[in-house]
Formats: sequence, C-alpha cells, structure tokens
Amino acid sequence: MTSSITPHGGKLINRLLGASEQEKKLELARSLPKITLSARQQSDLDMIACGALSPLEGFMGEKDYLSVINTMRLTNGLPWTIPITLAVTEEEAKKIKIGNGVALVGATGRSPLLAILHLEEKYNAQRDLEAEKVYKTTDTAHPGVAAIKKEGEICLGGKVEVLNRVSYSDFLDSRKDPAELRTLFAGKKWRRIVAFQTRNPIHRAHEYLTKSALEICDGLLIHPIVGETKGDDIPADVRMRCYEVLIENYYPKDRVVLSVNPAAMRYAGPREAIFHALIRKNYGCTHFIVGRDHAGVGNYYGTFDAHFIFDEFKPEEIGITPLFFDHSFFCHKCEEMASNKTCPHGAESRVILSGTKVREMLAKGELPPQEFSRPEVARILIESMKRP
Ligand code: ADX
Repeated sequence: MTSSITPHGGKLINRLLGASEQEKKLELARSLPKITLSARQQSDLDMIACGALSPLEGFMGEKDYLSVINTMRLTNGLPWTIPITLAVTEEEAKKIKIGNGVALVGATGRSPLLAILHLEEKYNAQRDLEAEKVYKTTDTAHPGVAAIKKEGEICLGGKVEVLNRVSYSDFLDSRKDPAELRTLFAGKKWRRIVAFQTRNPIHRAHEYLTKSALEICDGLLIHPIVGETKGDDIPADVRMRCYEVLIENYYPKDRVVLSVNPAAMRYAGPREAIFHALIRKNYGCTHFIVGRDHAGVGNYYGTFDAHFIFDEFKPEEIGITPLFFDHSFFCHKCEEMASNKTCPHGAESRVILSGTKVREMLAKGELPPQEFSRPEVARILIESMKRP
C-alpha cells in the first residue's frame, strides 16, 4: 500500500487551464484590465494553481478572510490559519468591476500574463485586526506584519483560471507540484512521508530532527521555502547548495526528496505551523516536523506555541500528523545529539549558539563547531558571505 493522504478539503485543486482553453482565454485576457502581482501574491497564485493551497480555488472573499482571521477556519469549517488575499490600491480597485475578469500579470518571469481572476467582490482589508489575530502583534518591526501593512487597502476576491505558470529561472529540477510529488512517493512505495519545513541552512539540530523522524517514516521530504523571506535570512540559492551537499554526504539518498516550496514566509509562528502542515498534506506528506519556535521571529511567540496550537483542532481535521520536537543540540556528556527531553545534562555541556553568533563566526571565515554545523555546509555559507 502506498501513501495517498487526502488533500485538505477532499480533492487536489487544479486551476490550470488545458491547452485549448488556454489559447482562447489568453486572447480574452489581453483585453482585460491588468493587475501586477507582488512577489508574494505571485507565489500564492502559483500555489493555488497547482493545488498546494487546496481547497482554495482563488483569492479569499471577505467572509473567508474574516473567518480565517477570527476563527482559524474557512467559512466551510475547514481549518485554515493564514489569509490568502489579493490586495490592491483604491485607485486600482476603481478600475475594475465586480462580475468581470481581471488579468493577473506576473511580478517577474518571461510569461507575465499569468491568470484571469473572476472578480466576485472587493472589500476593505483589516490589517490591524489581521495583524493582531494572525501575527499576535501590530508591531511593524515584525516582518509578516510589515508585509501585510505594505499591501493595498482593497482586497479582490474570486476564483482564478491560470493561463501560464510562473516561469522561474532557478531550482528548475526541484520545483515539484503536489501531484508530481504524490506520484513520486507512490513510485517509491512510501507510506509514511515526513515533511521538513525550513527557511535556514540545515544545521545539526535540523539534521537530528529530520533523521529522528526518518526512523519512524519511510521517506523524508526536505521542503524549503524559496518564496519571499526577510532580508537577513540566507538567500534560497545558497541554502539549496547547503541542502544538496548535506544530502550528498550525510543522508541516505534513496529515502530523501529535496523539492522547493514556492511559498512566501509569513513568520506567523503557531498559525503558520498549521498552514505549513496543511500545505505539506497537499503535497502528499503524512507527517510534519514542528520543532522549537517554528516559523517564529523575535520574541513574539512562546517557544512551543506552534505545538500547542494543534490542540485547538481535532487531529482528523488537520489530517497530517505533527511530529513535535523539543529544543535539540549536541551534548558533550551524552556525546551525541539530544534534546531537552532526552539529555539530563546542564547548559555547560550543550553546544548552543545564537544565530547572531553563528553569523559573526561565518562572516569572519570561522567554521562553527562541527557539533553545530557540518563543515561542508559552513564552508558554503562562508563563501556566500564573501559575495559583493
Ligand atoms: S522555520 O521558520 O522554518 O521554522 P528553521 O528553518 O530554522 O525555521 O526551522 C525549521 C524547523 O526546525 C522548524 O520546525 C523549527 O521549529 C525546527 N528547529 C530549528 N532549530 C531547532 C532546534 N535547535 N531544536 C528543535 N527544533 C528546531
């Protein structure tokens, strides 16, 4: 038996038009008013297109928007924790009519005419409420809050028909859609597939989490976010080289798939942990790793809030099984990787370095201790910091 975990809402959405319809609708799209998407809106559209955001078939209308903000559910009752909206300026909104089509044009790429939005409603974004409920703060120093506050004030709701996928120029061999990953997993006859979300290079603690999970699963999907991340996060191309060198040297290659997740990072901590889990269910994974301060930033969330939030839903509503990990590190007394749960020793024997400390070391060309980071990974990071 192979894995065939049901996508969120029951079926994998596909909003891509077939070839003959595409041609007809491209003609139509050229005559429609145009909205140019931001990088984040473009990633959301691309994920709606391929079903990564199933059951969404377009950008949220007001009822879903408020329901997600206030209740962490869509109006149909399904768990959903992050609003997926298409916001524009008031001026742009004035130019388009409810009931008509709007052409969505890409922020980047060679095929800029991406989709037709069938405009069902226009409504006011409620950014303070959204920030307070979704991000637990209205502080614009929070990168997720800053991102939503930068967007327009009017949201456009409606289903999309996708004419062209975003034409990326990077990671082309690692951009697998949910349907493709599902087929790949089935071909490998994996029943239990654990997904690992990350926006960082994989250090020893991450490696420990993924390998511990692999002890009880058949396969591991390393699924880094390559959409928009905050300015001081390590760029995706550098991270990809780190993942590749690590898989090459330290993972059983027949049990690991590396594929990228086009999503933008929200840094919404616990709410984003649920969102990340649901997306990975759509990509065909049965298990999902949630460690310390998942998708967190600064001190906005408690270290394990991203674990506790799963208690607010029935396991069968989420569908994918979360694997919770405590804070992990190398312990010199244990002489191995361990966590708060398994190591009885004190802080003095544990190798724990702050992100700032690691960045300082790397910037000076120093390798962090190999108990913290594999030297092959650290070398790539040191090289990347020499880039102008
Ligand atoms: S995240 O924003 O994607 O969560 P990161 O890439 O650092 O950031 O983390 C990926 C996953 O590893 C998350 O589930 C996070 O909670 C977990 N994690 C990172 N470092 C540790 C650690 N030292 N101990 C336990 N879990 C960790």
